[in-house]
Amino acid sequence: MKTHKDDDNLYERAAETVKNTTNAIAVTGAGISVESGIPDFRSAGGLWARYPPDEYATMDAFFRDPDKVWEMWYELAEELKGVQPNPGHYALAELERLGHIKAVITQNIDALHQHAGSNTVIEYHGNADQIACTACFRHRAMDLSQRALGAPRCECGGVMKPDVVLFGEVIPEYAMKTSDMLARGCDVLIVVGTSAQVYPAASLPYLAKEHGAKIIECNTQPTNFTGVITDIFLEGPAGQTLPKLVALVKEKKE
Ligand code: APR
Repeated sequence: MKTHKDDDNLYERAAETVKNTTNAIAVTGAGISVESGIPDFRSAGGLWARYPPDEYATMDAFFRDPDKVWEMWYELAEELKGVQPNPGHYALAELERLGHIKAVITQNIDALHQHAGSNTVIEYHGNADQIACTACFRHRAMDLSQRALGAPRCECGGVMKPDVVLFGEVIPEYAMKTSDMLARGCDVLIVVGTSAQVYPAASLPYLAKEHGAKIIECNTQPTNFTGVITDIFLEGPAGQTLPKLVALVKEKKE
């Protein structure tokens, strides 16, 4: 059974590791936005329980029935309206401001890292603010007022899709290449709120580990990373674990 003393020791080690680097990166998943009121995908009651991904989140599903797929994306866009960053997002932005984190690579499409003040954010799975034409690739802003019309159309006649990476779609080249380079070159990788089940995003912590990085993992429960590549596991909600870590880093810098 873990004691408070063990916990304090973990935070002590994690804070020392972060304080001593200017070359850390963070990789985040849906778990970091749960305390902002956005359900994650695979926990009980997550998004995929309401919208099975094979019916709503694959390229095949999209071209089979774009109006049906758009039902979910319009619903998600409505849920994203007005959501705010939580202390977990602000903690990572603070670590960037203090010069320890160089970039946040996020699987999330909610733009909450940017709203919290993180400047270098790589959106590995795109973002929900934009839509893109599947024929001519023209982009424009998501327009919720068009919801009743179903799948939006482009001036060229093509059907528009959310500018997010659906299953079966490739990761945007810039995001893929930059994330790969950052994972290979970082000294510390802080992985937060991801179930480590979706590739190629889940390969980034392994890549960092292979190149000598220390892995600090923040999650409410163990994942495929834990006990395999994770050096320090900070258990709990990211809105609590990350601010506690940052407070300790700042204490050590005084
Ligand atoms: N703080 C930290 N971790 C949390 C919290 C929290 N408050 N709440 C949940 N978690 C953890 C869960 O334990 C789980 O490990 O966050 C993780 C969420 O996992 P998923 O729902 O699978 O989300 P994610 O890993 O981001 O999914 C990856 O899969 O469905 C696709 O494209 C989608 O980007 C997504 C990708």
